Amino acid sequence: MSQFESRDNIEEENRQYKYIELLKDIVGKLKNELGRDITAHVETFGCQMNARDSEKLLGVLLACGFTSIDEEDADITVYNTCSVRDNANQRVYGRIGKLHSYKKVNKDMKIVLCGCMTQEESVIDKICQSYSFVDLIFGTHNLYKFAELLYYMYTGESNDELFVKRGKTIVSRWDSTTTICEKLPTKRKYAYKSGVNIMFGCNNFCTYCIVPYVRGRERSREADEIIEEIKALVNDGCIEIMLLGQNVNSYGKNLDNPITFAELLRRVEEIDGLERIRFMTSHPKDLSDELIEVMKNSKKICRHIHLPLQSGSSRILKAMNRVYNKEEYLDLALKIRREIPDIAITTDIIVGFPGETKEDVDDTIDVIKKVQFDNAFTFIYSIRTGTKAATMPQCDESFVKEQFDRVLQCVQETARDRVKLVEGQTLPALVEEVNEQDESLMTGRLSNNTIVHFKGDKSLIGKIVNVKCKECKGFYYLGEIE
Ligand code: SAH
Ligand code: SF4
Ligand code: F3S
Repeated sequence: MSQFESRDNIEEENRQYKYIELLKDIVGKLKNELGRDITAHVETFGCQMNARDSEKLLGVLLACGFTSIDEEDADITVYNTCSVRDNANQRVYGRIGKLHSYKKVNKDMKIVLCGCMTQEESVIDKICQSYSFVDLIFGTHNLYKFAELLYYMYTGESNDELFVKRGKTIVSRWDSTTTICEKLPTKRKYAYKSGVNIMFGCNNFCTYCIVPYVRGRERSREADEIIEEIKALVNDGCIEIMLLGQNVNSYGKNLDNPITFAELLRRVEEIDGLERIRFMTSHPKDLSDELIEVMKNSKKICRHIHLPLQSGSSRILKAMNRVYNKEEYLDLALKIRREIPDIAITTDIIVGFPGETKEDVDDTIDVIKKVQFDNAFTFIYSIRTGTKAATMPQCDESFVKEQFDRVLQCVQETARDRVKLVEGQTLPALVEEVNEQDESLMTGRLSNNTIVHFKGDKSLIGKIVNVKCKECKGFYYLGEIE
């Protein structure tokens, strides 16, 4: 980023803080009028990156004087949406209707939609036509303008440069941005852990994937900015951070002073007080020996790598534009297993990509058996309009269901065997929360990402404790603090 651009970014941050000040007045007046708190709710759909964005949205709302609540019938409810598969979109449409019923009770309620779905023109058209009660829509590139957009939504003033009005709905959608605002308010969901964006966007254009269209081109943040943010998080009580990007292995390549992801990890490792480092996602095509070396020698990088396979068939991988073949993936995964034996390897698999045959799925199953994934997220291919694969001849639905079940069964078998490997061992676990089903139990996470439940109390949350993994229950453990 040039110096001019970074100065530009600081000006933009100051501008947003001015709008936050103006909004404080507005929210304060509303409070006085109604004699109660003015509430806000942010609901996240999709990946860790959206979760991090939601923390920024909530940060702005809290800075403006709103009170955060868990329920969706707030005075302002924001849906931060995902469009990676059609069922993600359908879930949002299903739930906007419910928001309308809340708005009928609380006429002044504001409904805001943003994120990956609303980066798509066709979605915006549909919402403006069928859900005209939505107050504000913006996309992924202008999220940092949230305070400014809120101001216009509350005052009813117009600003032709920033948005258009379609009916009563304010719509602000940008094609791209070069601005990275570093210092706007955020409200972290967890006190002891946090995601940290190291890059935005994606340049890979896997032929099935909408992400490059809705998140724009790949942009890395400056390493110094990332380190500064992590130090501040550690000062604020964080002991675990997750470095986030669609393809972290290509981090830093396009910076004015290029730096590798492995080098960034070395720098993060040096931060005193930070105990655990995770990252996601690693694209196999860019995973370097340097990274394996850094992971192997690190005391802080967790023993887990998420390495999406997508398919085990070289023919399908080519059609997906993944840039590696079956053998290259196997070589890489087995090298990682050899170098770091206690590492957990998890993956993503898509079943039913256009033109996929039973033999292609056999190849996927072969890779699952050879790598022995610790877990795999298996998805049925979903057509995304605008992507290359959407124009290819599609598979038969019942064929896909059958193949999906075959893959799922194989994944469950290997995962069960892998998770069981640490049975009887005592390992450090970061205590994350009270168990959802049983309040006497706490839920912790091992370095290899396996969940373990054990007797304990709330005071342990955010601490790393040694837990004996007594009984493997498939994907998780019942354990005991040692
Ligand atoms: N950047 C990451 C993936 C982000 S999307 C990577 O390259 O690995 C998360 C997962 O959603 C992908 O790994 C893929 O398995 C799945 N996915 C993406 N597009 C999809 C589609 N059109 N249909 C089904 N699954 C999809
Ligand atoms: Fe999508 Fe591929 Fe980019 Fe991942 S690397 S976000 S799957 S285009
Ligand atoms: Fe979904 Fe956008 Fe993430 S499409 S998976 S929320 S980058």
